[in-house]
Amino acid sequence: MFSEEHNRYVLLQRDIRNPWLCDKKTVALLGCLMLPVTFFCATYVILFGICDELGYPRPQFDGFNAIEILERNQLRAELYSNTHAHGNYSEIPEEIPKDIHIHHADYTPEKLKLICYYNFPSNDFSLKINEIDPNLCTHLNLAFASVVNHSIYLDEEHLGYLTNIIPLKEKNQYLKILLSIGGAGNNNGYPEMVKNHTNRKTFIQSVLNYVKDYKIDGVDLDWEFPGENSADHYQKMHFTQLLSEIRKTINKQPKYKFLLTVAVAAPNEIIDVAYDVSYMNEYVDFINLMSYDYHYYTKITPFTGINSPLYQASNEKFYLSTLNINYSSHYWNYLGMDKSKIVVGLPTYGHTFKLTNSENHGLYAPALGFGHLGSLGFASYSTICTFLQGNHISPIFDMDTFSPYAVKYYEWISFDDQQSLTYKAEYIKSNNFGGAMVYSLNADDYKGDCDMGTSSGIKFPLITAIKNVFDG
Ligand SMILES: *[C@@H]1O[C@H](CO)[C@@H](O)[C@H](O)[C@H]1NC(C)=O
Ligand SMILES: *[C@@H]1O[C@H](CO)[C@@H](O)[C@H](O)[C@H]1NC(C)=O
Ligand SMILES: *[C@@H]1O[C@H](CO)[C@@H](O)[C@H](O)[C@H]1NC(C)=O
Ligand SMILES: *[C@@H]1O[C@H](CO)[C@@H](O)[C@H](O)[C@H]1NC(C)=O
Repeated sequence: MFSEEHNRYVLLQRDIRNPWLCDKKTVALLGCLMLPVTFFCATYVILFGICDELGYPRPQFDGFNAIEILERNQLRAELYSNTHAHGNYSEIPEEIPKDIHIHHADYTPEKLKLICYYNFPSNDFSLKINEIDPNLCTHLNLAFASVVNHSIYLDEEHLGYLTNIIPLKEKNQYLKILLSIGGAGNNNGYPEMVKNHTNRKTFIQSVLNYVKDYKIDGVDLDWEFPGENSADHYQKMHFTQLLSEIRKTINKQPKYKFLLTVAVAAPNEIIDVAYDVSYMNEYVDFINLMSYDYHYYTKITPFTGINSPLYQASNEKFYLSTLNINYSSHYWNYLGMDKSKIVVGLPTYGHTFKLTNSENHGLYAPALGFGHLGSLGFASYSTICTFLQGNHISPIFDMDTFSPYAVKYYEWISFDDQQSLTYKAEYIKSNNFGGAMVYSLNADDYKGDCDMGTSSGIKFPLITAIKNVFDG
């Protein structure tokens, strides 16, 4: 028998030594529970490297990342990539000239154009009309209307935006506002509409109605792309006829003059299928060359690459050496488009890739999917800039393509910054092209969140960099 005092002492000692009242069983149980977690983590680290999402800032939901817009843009990026993949890299197709010589005596335009695409707001985070600087761009292309029943179609909500954007012209009397019709993945109405004269006439009447009713300065036809994936071999011809008929209509209008522009493909193979370039040259005011999406992750192009390279990379040969701004813009000129009518496309968004091996991270490094940043391999500049800042990453500037890229573990990002766009704008200016088209206002850092280099706090730092070159 122990005294009551002794019992109390034992209890007290136990409390002191083991305040959590743990015993060996509890410890064993906890250990057993932890084992699968530890095992899972170890396996994850071995398979996927250092848990590669750790330390990544949450991608901003900045409106550009609205999934429905990106899903459509993805179609063009895939088409561009897969068109190249079908080409035989070890052979130059005969119709692609190696060195392109300029045919046209050309005049230098009085002012370089800066065409900015503006995607309709799609959510609360989107760039709003009242946040657009009316003095930044020379032209705004409101994107996108559709072709329905051979006519321009916008629903009530989008018509409201169209009505609300026109007053920006009061703040800049030189600003032109155009309605862009079509866009990647939104071209269902074009094939039927261009087919016969009656349908085209209906469409042209709807263009005239929009010009009169909404006071737009013109239309931008963004059919991606005539003749592409179609059994109708007349699409190219019919599209040219449409352009010719619109030009005749404009010439007959004493009162309502309006601009006719076309957003066009950059890869040679699509150009050859889709456009009668020398005829187009007679009918359009200018073309918006979509010289981006040259490199994008797809299953048959599983490697890294620059979204919008100015020149070829040093290791690119044959067909790959045509996938750059310099080649495409000269190719359009070679086929008969006046230089002053070629408006060269520059992106404010980048493409992300997931590397197969984090140690192999140059150009053409193997990739196995989209990166984490953004959605579907598309990321806006503000998302990319925030990511680079947050992780203290210095991008690598590739002097062949005049473009930066950035790497962190398995994330590989091709993008454009103020430096690359300054070079590209200088290229446009010194080569006497018509100006720059930017896709898009929404993907630039329109809130001024970036705090890198000289861009700290500036709104639209990328488009501003282009404007500074053109104004300088
Ligand atoms: C690609 O070109 C090479 C060299 O000319 C040729 O041997 C090969 O058969 C071609 N491949 C295809 C798919 O055309
Ligand atoms: C740019 O393209 C032109 C025309 O194809 C070519 O002559 C020139 O060498 C190219 N410039 C560079 C730096 O690749
Ligand atoms: C297009 O035509 C169909 C059939 O005439 C009609 O049901 C539909 O409402 C029309 N759509 C528009 C947007 O006018
Ligand atoms: C033009 O095409 C439409 C169908 O899109 C058809 O209804 C119409 O009869 C055609 N017109 C002519 C003149 O062929």
